[in-house]
Amino acid sequence: MRTQLCAKINKNDIGKDVSLVGWVATRRDHGSLIFIDLRDVSGIIQVVFNPEISKSAHKIAGDIRSEYVINICGTVSPRPGGTINKNLPTGEIEVIAKQIEILNISKTPPFPIEDEINVAEDLRLKYRVLDLRRPKMQRNLILRYKICLFFRKFFDEYGFIEIETPALIKSTPEGARDYLVPSRVNPGNFYALPQSPQMLKQLLMVSGFDRYFQIAKCFRDEDLRADRQPEFTQVDLEMSFIKEDDILSLIELVLKRLFGEILNIDIKIPFHRLPYKDSMERFGTDKPDMRFSMELTNVSSEFQDSGFNVFNGVLKSGGKIYGINASGCSSFSRQDIDELTKYVANFGAKGLAWFKMGKETLESPIAKFFSKEILDKVSQKMNAKEGNLLLFVADKQSIVLDSLGNLRLYLAEKLKLIPEKEFKFVWIMEFPLFKYNETEKRFEPEHHPFTAPMDEDIQFFDSDLSKMHARAYDLVLNGIEVGGGSIRIHKKEIQEKMFKSIGIEDKERDERFGFLLEAFEYGAPPHGGIALGLDRLVMLILGEKSIREVIAFPKTQKAVCLLTGAPSNVDPKQLKELHIKPAV
Ligand code: AMO
Ligand code: AMP
Repeated sequence: MRTQLCAKINKNDIGKDVSLVGWVATRRDHGSLIFIDLRDVSGIIQVVFNPEISKSAHKIAGDIRSEYVINICGTVSPRPGGTINKNLPTGEIEVIAKQIEILNISKTPPFPIEDEINVAEDLRLKYRVLDLRRPKMQRNLILRYKICLFFRKFFDEYGFIEIETPALIKSTPEGARDYLVPSRVNPGNFYALPQSPQMLKQLLMVSGFDRYFQIAKCFRDEDLRADRQPEFTQVDLEMSFIKEDDILSLIELVLKRLFGEILNIDIKIPFHRLPYKDSMERFGTDKPDMRFSMELTNVSSEFQDSGFNVFNGVLKSGGKIYGINASGCSSFSRQDIDELTKYVANFGAKGLAWFKMGKETLESPIAKFFSKEILDKVSQKMNAKEGNLLLFVADKQSIVLDSLGNLRLYLAEKLKLIPEKEFKFVWIMEFPLFKYNETEKRFEPEHHPFTAPMDEDIQFFDSDLSKMHARAYDLVLNGIEVGGGSIRIHKKEIQEKMFKSIGIEDKERDERFGFLLEAFEYGAPPHGGIALGLDRLVMLILGEKSIREVIAFPKTQKAVCLLTGAPSNVDPKQLKELHIKPAV
C-alpha cells in the first residue's frame, strides 16, 4: 500500500510522488492549510493539505482525528524557510498531499500516543495495545529484539547451539513456587512450568552437546517487584569441560561486545570479583551498587564497653554495630533523621543512632554515654571529617546489614550520588553453599541444589554445612542481579549428599530427581553454566526503572494481565475434565 516508510523519506526524495500509510499523530488546522503528522513504525513525517492542490483531500483532512488510519499520496517538498524542525529526522521536508483515503477511524485514545505521558501505569497496561503504539515503547521492544539477535549471533559464533526445552516439565527447584498445569489424561497429576531449564540443560551436557544456549521463558510464582515478573526470560547457557574462569570470561566478552554495539560504551573487562563475605560487610547486600562508595563500617569493637546500654546489650547478645558516613548529610535536621529512622525500621532496625562530626569530636544527644576515647576511635575508623553525619544501627548482624545496606541506597538516591549513565558490573563469588531457614529449622541451597561445593569444603558435608562454599557466581550490574550460575555437581554420590543435606529423603529424591541421578551414572562430564536475566539487562541498557517497560504484555504486582484479564474463571466443565475441584 505504500512506496516507502514515513521517516525513511529524505531530501533526496524532493520532487518525488509517494504513497504513505500510517496513523494520524497530530492534526493542526490553520484554516486554509491543514497539517498532519503521519506516524508509522519508522517515525513521523509532516503532511500538508492545501485546498489549492486538492480541494477534496483538504475537505477529508478536515474531518480526520488523532489515530485515524490513512493512506495519502503526494509530492515530497522542502519545508519553507523558518518552518524547519531540527528535532525531527524528516524536519526539513514535508509531503504536499494530493489524495487521502481513510482506512479506518479511531475512538479518542485514553492517553496521547507520545513519549512523555503522565498517566497511571494501570491505565497503560489496560490499553497496552495503544501504549505499545507510543514511539518509546516501540523503540524499547525493537532494542530488546536487537539484543536477542546479538546474543544468538554471538553464541553461534562461539559454537553454542540453541536447543528448545519443554515448558511442561517435572518441577525444577529454583527456590520459588511452581506454576502447575493439571494433566487431563493423567488424573491427579501435574506438570510444572520451568522455573528455569536447569536440569534439562544439564542433561543435554550428559548427552554430549558441549555448548548449549537458549533464550528461555521461565515461570516463578513469587512476590513481584519492579524487577520481577511471574514469567521472564533468561539467556541461558551451559558448557562442558570448563571451570569458573571460562564462563566468567565468556560472559565478560559477550557483554563488552553488546554494550559496545548497542550503546557504543566501552565496558572494561575483566569485571571486579568480590567475595560474598566482603560484599555483605561493605555494602550490606550481595547485590552491591558499585557506582558510589558510602560503604558500611563495622564499629562493634570500637563501641565496646561504653555507657550506652542499647549498644552494650546488643553486643553482649552477639549482635553487631555498623555505621555509614553520610558525608553529604551534615545539614540534616532532626526531622530528616526521623525520616531515616522510619526508613530503617522497615528492615527491622529498632533505632538509628547518629552523630555529627564537630571541630574536635563527635556530637550527639547520646554522646554523653561515650568516652572521648571511644568517640575518637569511631570517628577515626569511619574517616569522619568536620560536618559529616554518621549513622549507626545496632542489632542482629542480618538486620544491621539489611537496614544499612538499604539506607545506603536510599541516601544515595536522595543525595543524587548515583551517576546515571554509568554501568558498573561486579561478580559476586564464594557464596555459601547453604543458607539456614530459621522457620523450618533446616538448611536450603543458597542457589539451587545442583551447584557444586568447593572441593576443599566437601569434607564438611557430614560435619558443618554452614562452613561450605559454592562454586557459584552472580553477576550484578548497578545494584541489580543480572545473572547467576555455577559449576555443577556431576557425580552421583555428591548430588545425593546434597539432597540429603537439605532434608530430601531417599524416596522423595528418587521420585523427583531419579532421572538426573540415573543420567549421572552414564558418564556425566564436568559442566557448568549461567543464566542472564534478559528483561533486567534490557531494562538497564535502556535506563528504565521497571522490567514492565521492556516486556510487551507484562503482569501487575498482583500477577494480573490488565489487558486480557488473565487469570480468570474457567468453565466448570473444563475443571471436571481436569479432575479438579476448586477449594474455594
Ligand atoms: P537464577 O535463579 O539466578 O538462576 O536466575 C538467573 C537470572 O534470571 C533473572 N531473574 C528474573 N528476572 C525477572 N523476573 C524474575 N522473577 C526473575 N528471577 C530471576 C535474574 C537472575 O540473575 N538455573 C539458574 C542459572 C544457572 O545456574 O545456570 C537460574 O535460574 O537476573
Ligand atoms: P533511646 O534510648 O531508645 O531513646 O535511644 C537513643 C538513641 O539511640 C536514639 O537516637 C535511637 O534511635 C538510638 N537507638 C536505639 N536503639 C538503637 C539500635 N538498635 N541501633 C541504633 N541506634 C539505636
